[in-house]
Amino acid sequence: MGTGVIIKAEGLEKIYGNGRSALRVLKGVSLEIMAGEVISIVGPSGAGKSTLLNLIGCIDSFQNGRLAVMGKDVSELSVEDLSGFRNRHIGFIFQSHNLLPEFTAIENIMIPLMISRRGKKEARDRAHALLERFGMTDRAHHKPAELSGGECQRVAVARAIVGRPDIILADEPTGNLDRANSGMLTDLLLELGRQEGATIVIVTHDREIAERTVKTITLIDGTIHDSSLQGKH
Ligand SMILES: Nc1ncnc2c1ncn2[C@@H]1O[C@H](COP(=O)(O)OP(=O)(O)OP(=O)(O)O)[C@@H](O)[C@H]1O
Ligand SMILES: [Mg+2]
Repeated sequence: MGTGVIIKAEGLEKIYGNGRSALRVLKGVSLEIMAGEVISIVGPSGAGKSTLLNLIGCIDSFQNGRLAVMGKDVSELSVEDLSGFRNRHIGFIFQSHNLLPEFTAIENIMIPLMISRRGKKEARDRAHALLERFGMTDRAHHKPAELSGGECQRVAVARAIVGRPDIILADEPTGNLDRANSGMLTDLLLELGRQEGATIVIVTHDREIAERTVKTITLIDGTIHDSSLQGKH
């Protein structure tokens, strides 16, 4: 990716429900993320971090404000165009890994490439290379239920990056892992993302992970309170 703004939000508002039960979760969020930047989003539980990431990832809609991803106003895209757009440009790692239980590790990683109609051989080769990189060659043909939590998260990272997306969004990717596994997964994510020049946004509770990103955005009660540069890189 070249330089320039890749994600631009202006006054984003997200309201769940309606009438008396309406819950205003994002209260006018504005931010700019530059192409190739690696940033973190922190803040208390319930602040709206996952909600914001889902909007950026085009997997949820919003009521007010504007959101441009790669220069495209995403609220103008049809549902169909949006799913193609996501598949081409965005890799998402969910708070819980969200692997498909009936498919093996290698098949889960191949899915984004199959959706974008890449050949099966290319998909298998790329998935295999990532499994090797992640030290999981011997687990390739096991289903998620037969893998450890850390292994599932590694497969989820591989699935998110296999299509070489411009933007990688990770929601607490290491939330359920011990320190050693968490460090290893973060290393892999940052290293592979950097190699591809991807823009990376990580939601995390973990200060150590946040400190490894260039910039941290603090979200409290649906509002951005602070954007701080880590002063490195
Ligand atoms: N589908 C939904 N319907 C109604 N309310 C929701 C929905 N999803 C989330 N919320 C509410 O929106 C608020 C923000 O949720 P969100 O998941 O974005 O928080 P978060 O900052 O990611 O928290 P955590 O750190 O615990 O993951 C919470 O009060 C949550 O209960
Ligand atoms: Mg969350």
